[in-house]
Amino acid sequence: MTGLLVGSMKDKVISMTDQIDEKTIEQNFEQDEDFVLNIRGLKVYFELRKRGFQHAGFVHAVDNVDLRLRRGETIAIVGESGCGKTSLMKTILRLNTPTGGEIEFDGEIINDLKSDALKNVRRKIGYVQQDPYGALAPFMNVRTILEEPLIVNGVKDKQERFDRVVKVLEEVRMTPVEDFLEKFPHQLSGGQQQRIVIARAMILDPILLVADEPVSMLDASVRVEILKLLRSLQEEHNLAVIYITHDLATVRYFSEYIYVMYAGQIIEKAPESDLINHTAHPYTHALLAATSDPDPKNVDEFQDVPPGEPPSLVKPPEGCRFHPRCPHMIADLCDKEVPLEFEIAEKHLVHCWLFRDKAVAK
Ligand SMILES: Nc1ncnc2c1ncn2[C@@H]1O[C@H](COP(=O)(O)OP(=O)(O)OP(=O)(O)O)[C@@H](O)[C@H]1O
Ligand code: SF4
Ligand SMILES: [Mg+2]
Repeated sequence: MTGLLVGSMKDKVISMTDQIDEKTIEQNFEQDEDFVLNIRGLKVYFELRKRGFQHAGFVHAVDNVDLRLRRGETIAIVGESGCGKTSLMKTILRLNTPTGGEIEFDGEIINDLKSDALKNVRRKIGYVQQDPYGALAPFMNVRTILEEPLIVNGVKDKQERFDRVVKVLEEVRMTPVEDFLEKFPHQLSGGQQQRIVIARAMILDPILLVADEPVSMLDASVRVEILKLLRSLQEEHNLAVIYITHDLATVRYFSEYIYVMYAGQIIEKAPESDLINHTAHPYTHALLAATSDPDPKNVDEFQDVPPGEPPSLVKPPEGCRFHPRCPHMIADLCDKEVPLEFEIAEKHLVHCWLFRDKAVAK
C-alpha cells in the first residue's frame, strides 16, 4: 500500500461523502433518546465437531462487540470476507444464538426470547439478506412473496393485504405495479429481484432495517440505484439502518457512523467523515486502499485487497488480531496484549497500541 495511492483513494471517497449532512450527524448523536438497538459485549461462537460428534474447538465469529443505534440513525459495518458481519446480523435477528453478552432491541433484552415474543421482534426488523437470488422462493410470484409475511403476522383482510403489497411495490419503484404482481423471480432482473427483497423487508413497517451486502451480487450498473433507494426508504420511514459491506466507498449513501470489523471484533469506529479523513487503525488504512467506486463509470478503479490473509477464527492470533499483517506491529506488545479502546477524537474510538500515548483509554 503506497501513501500516494491511499491519498488519492481517500480524495475519491471524501469527494463522495458530501451528501451527508453534518448537522444531522450532530443531532443524531447529541440527543439522549433511547436506543433502538444496544448491543453489549456480544459473542457468537460456533462449535466445530470432528466426525459429527467430537468437540474440535469454536469459530469465534463475533467476539466482544458493542454497538448502539437510535431511530433514524444509520451505521455501516465494514470488513473483509469472513470477519463476522453476517454472523453479527443473524444474531440480532436471533437466527444465531448469542454465546455471551446482551442484545437489547426496542427496550427489551432479546437473547433468550422464544416463539411469539421472538416473532414480534423479527416483525420489527427488516432483513435484506446477502444473496437476493437465494432469498426469493422460485415457485412464488411477487404478489405471494410479499403477501406471505402479512399472512404469517395475522393480516387477515385480503383487500388490506393487496393494498399493502401495491403500496410497498410503489415504494421500491416497481411500477406500474400490475406489470410485476404475477411475475416469478426468474422473470425479473437482478436489480428488480433485489427491489422485491427490499419490499419484503419493508412490508411489515419495521423500525430497523438490516441490509447485508445489498449490492455486492449486483451488476455495477444498478448498484447506485439500489443504494439510493435504500437511503430514500430510510429517510421516508425514519428507519434505523445497519448497512453491511466490505467496500468503504458505498457507505456514502448511508452512514453517519462507520464500524470497522476485523476477525470478529470492532477495531475502529467513528463518524463517517472522521473515519475517512482521520483514519487511525492500520487495518482501516488497508481497507481504504481496497476501496472500489460503485459508480459504473469507475468500476475498474481501486480493486486492491488488503495484503496478507485474514486470521483463523478458531485460534485467533494473540494480542492484536491484526498483528501478523500489520506493518506497524510493536514486538512484545501487539503480539501479546489485546489493545485497549482509545478515544482519539470525539466519538472516534480505536483499538490499537499506536495510540496508547495520544489518547485516554476507555
Ligand atoms: N453456522 C455456522 N457454523 C459454523 N461457522 C460459521 C457459521 N456461520 C458462519 N461461520 C463462520 O464464521 C465466520 C464469519 O462468517 P460470516 O459469514 O459472519 O462472515 P462475513 O463477514 O459475513 O463474510 P462475507 O463478507 O464473506 O459474507 C466464518 O469463519 C464462517 O465460516
Ligand atoms: S495494535 Fe499493533 S499490531 Fe495491532 S494494529 Fe495497532 S500497531 Fe498494528
Ligand atoms: Mg456475510
